[in-house]
Amino acid sequence: MERVGVVGCGQMGAGIAEVCARAGLDVIAVESSPAAAEAGRRRLEASLARAERKGKVASAAEVLERIRISESLNDLADRSLVIEAIVENERVKAELFAALDEIVSAPDAILASNTSSIPIMKLGTVTHRPAQVLGIHFFNPVPVLPLVELVPSLLTAEETVGRARAFAQDVLGKHAIRCQDRAGFVVNALLIPFILAAIRMLESGFATREDIDEGLVRGAAHPQGPLALADLIGLDTTKAVAESLYEEFKEPLYAPPPLLARMVEGGLLGRKSGRGFYTYS
Ligand code: NAI
Repeated sequence: MERVGVVGCGQMGAGIAEVCARAGLDVIAVESSPAAAEAGRRRLEASLARAERKGKVASAAEVLERIRISESLNDLADRSLVIEAIVENERVKAELFAALDEIVSAPDAILASNTSSIPIMKLGTVTHRPAQVLGIHFFNPVPVLPLVELVPSLLTAEETVGRARAFAQDVLGKHAIRCQDRAGFVVNALLIPFILAAIRMLESGFATREDIDEGLVRGAAHPQGPLALADLIGLDTTKAVAESLYEEFKEPLYAPPPLLARMVEGGLLGRKSGRGFYTYS
């Protein structure tokens, strides 16, 4: 899998493109508009400059040379692996998988999704190759966090899972865990209700945002509190994952609290928009 495609060069897609290029792979990242492509390029440049300053990569410029940013899905025709990291919307992702199925020509190419909560079955079944469709779920920030969740659907071939595991572990140096094709997989099924509980606590006036976050940092050794973490994940993504979990399991603990809904409606999306539970410069 030397030629990798990444669709979406936002927070996650840029991180995935970066770790693939840092592993020496040839990467094409596809964005949906010139402005989004430019934003993706800036995101990659900033992250790689940081990695260079910290001595994690020898030359940011050399890594960037292995990444081409395109606005055309057709450029992915020769890829052996395509990882989708676009907006968390089932209809939009399904349309993309149907298009990728037509475009990506190698019969054994793998089509993967970085979705946090959408059933892989729904993406596999819009293609003619559901045996080669699976979830490869990275964690944010991708260059820093070592975990990926591998999510086969009931139709994914074991060989596909094996190739994806080899890619994640041997090529990217990540640790892979395997999960069932259920909303939230392992990590988000545990993490999202925890974040939602913190938002409800803030909403009810039970404690301030600082006290909630400090409580978990100093009392439970979390590296950051749940509200700061929600800002990092993105409040739109947090809400979308909560809705998928609620839809799947119908448990009240997964229902997005009204405060989260209002913040997303107001464009307060966390770090990526400059304001969420905290304000960022
Ligand atoms: P984001 O909003 O930062 O990036 C999404 C990017 O996709 C945007 O740059 C947008 O222009 C682009 N895009 C949208 N539709 C497109 C299309 N049809 N073709 C090409 N590009 C398109 O979102 P983020 O946070 O990167 O999330 C992406 C995916 O990764 C979602 O499925 C999310 O659930 C998942 N994810 C997010 C995590 C997080 O912590 N934010 C963690 C793990 C997975």
